[in-house]
Amino acid sequence: MAWLKEQIELVKIAADAALAQAHTQEKLEQVRVAFLGRQGTIADLMVHLKSVSVEEKKECGPLLNELKNELTAAYSTQQVALEKAVERAALEQQKLFDVTAYVHEPVSGSRHIYTQLIEQLEDIFISMGYDIAAGPEVETEYHNFTALNVPTDHPARDMQDTFWMHVPQMLLRTQTSSVQVRSMEKQGAPLAIFAPGRVYRNEQVDASHDFMFMQAEGLVIDKHISLSHLLATARSFLQAIFEKKDLNIRVRPGYFPFVEPGLEIDASCPFCSSGCSICKKTGWIELMGSGLVHPHVLRTCGIDPNVYSGFAFGFGIERMAMIKYGITDIRQFHAGKIDFLKQF
Ligand code: PHE
Repeated sequence: MAWLKEQIELVKIAADAALAQAHTQEKLEQVRVAFLGRQGTIADLMVHLKSVSVEEKKECGPLLNELKNELTAAYSTQQVALEKAVERAALEQQKLFDVTAYVHEPVSGSRHIYTQLIEQLEDIFISMGYDIAAGPEVETEYHNFTALNVPTDHPARDMQDTFWMHVPQMLLRTQTSSVQVRSMEKQGAPLAIFAPGRVYRNEQVDASHDFMFMQAEGLVIDKHISLSHLLATARSFLQAIFEKKDLNIRVRPGYFPFVEPGLEIDASCPFCSSGCSICKKTGWIELMGSGLVHPHVLRTCGIDPNVYSGFAFGFGIERMAMIKYGITDIRQFHAGKIDFLKQF
């Protein structure tokens, strides 16, 4: 048999076998390119046809055309079949889609209530011209007590049960008042700082006492600072934080060794006018300790009490949050319970 005729038959067998194997659209396309493409096998044979004798042309020309037509038709049929199969598979997939299936809400985190309240407080104090200050939680006895007019063996140390470190004269700070000392040492006078931060006390834990809590400290030192500056500041920031323009304050004498005079500041109850459970029917809520910085403390921190005076105040952030949001147990702040935290 002449070479060309034999090739035509062999190509037919090979193309049929390749089509039978082409189960995907990509494979089918590869078969088309190999046999029917511009540089494919059929095109090669067409080129060859031009160089053979007239008789061979007469015999092989129609055979080659027939092969080309057959292959083109088989390719189209297979292409349609594969497209249908793809459509069918997509429909099957849709049937599996369950419109009644329950989708879990994505769990999103939020800032802790501490952080939110501290940011609000910082905004208020920054708007009044204060700097935000911070100090270490592992503190020296000197910054936490001695410089604040509480010498060793002074009974006032018993007011704040202390976690002592194994290193001598080091402790977990019991009050953010230590930041007063550090700020005065570093900046001198005049200054205005607001210092929120964690403090620790070796206390029996109950609904209103925790061994670790957040305090915030305010300190202003300048010439001619008096109690009226303290009272005006306290009233404005309490009005802002409780969002109550007519909130009032009252003062009672209080003892803190580093202030003289020392004052307890109470706020008129933001929730009632005649007594409720939050103010324990008194109309007033105890909120913070404060006073004019003791001249001895100023002197210890390198500030001349004959030139400068200052006021300081301190309060518990949890206590403020508990009053603002009606939280009844301080332990909830650290309990790590998502249900509690996500309310805020
Ligand atoms: N540090 C005091 C306390 O923890 C509060 C306070 C701060 C009092 C500043 C007066 C001035 O009780």
